[in-house]
Amino acid sequence: MTFSARTFARSGAIGFAVFLAACTSATQAATYVMFRDPGCGCCHQWADHVRGQMQAEVQTREDVPMAQVKAQMGVPGDLVSCHTMEADGYVIEGHVPASDIARLLRERPEGVRGLAVAGMPLGSPGMEMGGRSQPYQVIAFGDFGQRVFASYE
Ligand code: CU
Ligand code: CU
Repeated sequence: MTFSARTFARSGAIGFAVFLAACTSATQAATYVMFRDPGCGCCHQWADHVRGQMQAEVQTREDVPMAQVKAQMGVPGDLVSCHTMEADGYVIEGHVPASDIARLLRERPEGVRGLAVAGMPLGSPGMEMGGRSQPYQVIAFGDFGQRVFASYE
C-alpha cells in the first residue's frame, strides 16, 4: 500500500467511527434549548435538574429578549415564569419537573402545546431554598385552553 492509500484508508475508517458515534449519541441524548435572561440564576439549577433526570442536553440562549421568546412560543400570559425551553416541539415554561416533561413526551396528549409552572414556587426543581416549599401545579396549555397536568404539595 502506498502512503497516500494507507492515509486514505485510515481517514475513511475514522470518518466511519465518527459517523457511528454521532448516530449513537443522537439516539441517547436529545437536545433541548432553554432561553433565559442573563440576570437570572435559578435557570441554571433547573437546567441541571433536567440534564440529570432526562437523557438530554440543554443548550442555553440568552440572545433573545424573554418577552419576545414567550410571545413567539405562545406562552399564555398568566403562566409566565423565568426561563422558556423548547423540547421536542413542546414549550416548557418555568420550573417544570423533569418527570412531567418525560411524561408529556411519552404520552403526547392531544392538543397540548406545552407545560408551565407559573411564577417561581419555592421547592420546585431549581428553586430549592433551605427546604421551604410552596404547593404548585404543572399546567398543560394548548388550543383547548389550560388544564392541570400535575399537582405538588
Ligand atoms: Cu426561575
Ligand atoms: Cu431563572
